[in-house]
Amino acid sequence: MTEEVLSTPSHVAIIMDGNGRWAKARGLPREVGHERGVEALRQTVEACRHTSLTTLTVYSFSTENWKRPASEVSALFGLLRLYIRQDLKKLKAEGVCVKVIGSKENLPDDILALIAHVESETSVNTGFTLNIAFNYGAHDEIRDACQKIAGRVASGEITTDQISISDIESHLWFKHSPPVDLLIRTSGEYRLSNFMLWQLAYSELVFMDVLWPDFRGEHLQEALDIFTNRERRYGGLSSAGSLK
Ligand code: FPP
Repeated sequence: MTEEVLSTPSHVAIIMDGNGRWAKARGLPREVGHERGVEALRQTVEACRHTSLTTLTVYSFSTENWKRPASEVSALFGLLRLYIRQDLKKLKAEGVCVKVIGSKENLPDDILALIAHVESETSVNTGFTLNIAFNYGAHDEIRDACQKIAGRVASGEITTDQISISDIESHLWFKHSPPVDLLIRTSGEYRLSNFMLWQLAYSELVFMDVLWPDFRGEHLQEALDIFTNRERRYGGLSSAGSLK
């Protein structure tokens, strides 16, 4: 069976990189770069609403980001609080379903409560989903799925040879989202940084030179245009060749 070749993406994921460099270039603290990054996120969500995208996932705090100075970690936590508190009403009114994806370990109680609140308040919205990857790492996500599946095997519910690809997917934190069609990383870096490793299996990758705080709708459109001109083969042959 051949996969359908799509020219318009449903799911875009973004590694919002370059906040620190943006701030440094202006002699400002790194935290200011992250603050301006929230504004770029707002504008990107708005821009998505004028496209046919159904899902946007953004990488806002990785499991590796705990290695940063406590003041920067604290600022990033503060920005999640601020974003949810300031934007919840608007996101809800505009039909955005918000999910915060990642490990809940080591998150303060007020953040956990805020996550539960934003998710329940927006869960009725079905048109567009904003996944905020926060305290997220793909290795942790995959390990968590393995542990759950191992538990099912240990209890005799399934045997090891019954484990299917869709079984694995149904235990991943991103189980509610379609695979990523297009990954954008800003700031000119060429890495995946432990982001959505399972879901990126057949994604088109677009690396852009813009620093995240400067990212706007026109950059999103540029990436979507690049995507449209790519040919997705999913391991098959080009559409000019035979797939039989
Ligand atoms: C990478 O840039 C960016 C991050 C680690 C954080 C991204 C966070 C935001 C855009 C704002 C937070 C939004 C929410 C909703 C919590 P970097 O700091 O590594 O940049 P650099 O490579 O230039 O130093």
